[in-house]
Amino acid sequence: MEGVIDHHMRNLLTRIGGYHHCVTEFVRITDQLFPPVAFHRICPELKYASKTKAGTPVTLQILGGDPNAMAENAQRAAELGAAAVDINFGCPSRFTNSKAGGAVLLKEPERIYKIIDAVRKAVSTELSVSAKIRLGYENTDLALENAKAVEAADASFITVHARTKVDGYHHPARWEWLGRLNDALTIPLVANGDINSVDDFLRCREMSNCEDFMLGRGAVIQPDLARQISATYAQNPTAPMEWSDVIALVIGLTDLMQTQPTIAGKKVLGRMKQWLAYLKRQYPEAGVLFGEIRQMKQLSQALVLLSQKGRSVAA
Ligand SMILES: Cc1cc2nc3c(=O)[nH]c(=O)nc-3n(C[C@H](O)[C@H](O)[C@H](O)COP(=O)(O)O)c2cc1C
Repeated sequence: MEGVIDHHMRNLLTRIGGYHHCVTEFVRITDQLFPPVAFHRICPELKYASKTKAGTPVTLQILGGDPNAMAENAQRAAELGAAAVDINFGCPSRFTNSKAGGAVLLKEPERIYKIIDAVRKAVSTELSVSAKIRLGYENTDLALENAKAVEAADASFITVHARTKVDGYHHPARWEWLGRLNDALTIPLVANGDINSVDDFLRCREMSNCEDFMLGRGAVIQPDLARQISATYAQNPTAPMEWSDVIALVIGLTDLMQTQPTIAGKKVLGRMKQWLAYLKRQYPEAGVLFGEIRQMKQLSQALVLLSQKGRSVAA
């Protein structure tokens, strides 16, 4: 998730467990072949066999509208060690869409086909090439056609975020659509949208008949959600993570970010606030803490408060 789940967050979350693989933020491809640094910036794991420190495989995501440029850059990603490439047809950002990338392409199933086909043919058959779509741009009229275009282009699997572009992130995900598309496809369909608890997962599975699921915001709202879902699968449900462990994770994220000398304290503080804002949906304590650090300008000040709170819950 752009600006939220970077390699530090992937490192932390996959250490908790439950993930079979995870996906990077997208590399936005224009009309040029990018230098290796552009890929390493988004996916430093390329230097470590495309795995997080916990050993979870990482898929590199690309976004763009030009089939040739996408193919050339996918080839480069493969040369750099990517084991899997995912193509983003879901990003709703006005900037991205104005450059003919992301969800705007859902208006053109044929172009979706051409992009995936070009990428698929440019890399080894051993490399997984997948695509992530929404149900459509303004409405769901082309949902099936787009999903079929992904399948026809020989994608390894498809992830469907069960909203349209116009739905943004607000409306409830339309899981019933996942079931419809799943019935019509032969490639695996990964269900995505509004899975924020084990109950959501169970209902989504029931409605979609899917076997694979992608977490979005739920991954940061409830940091051990994947582990809980995995345990539920194994018929050995576990209790959600305690707040004391969650606060340690937030401190852990700031520690990891600070090991990177190019990241300014202000950015680390911003990410701390951002995570607390997500966490408050699950943990009321995060809301209180967020209120206390919201106006703070200095990372050091926020860290003192966080470690005091950490100590007081642990005591
Ligand atoms: C801030 C933010 C950034 C995101 N960035 C990406 C991205 O880079 N690539 C991607 O495939 N999806 C991205 N997404 C979409 C999520 O992966 C997911 O599809 C979407 O949030 C729906 O799932 P949810 O309702 O469980 O959050 C982003 C979502 C948010 C809120």
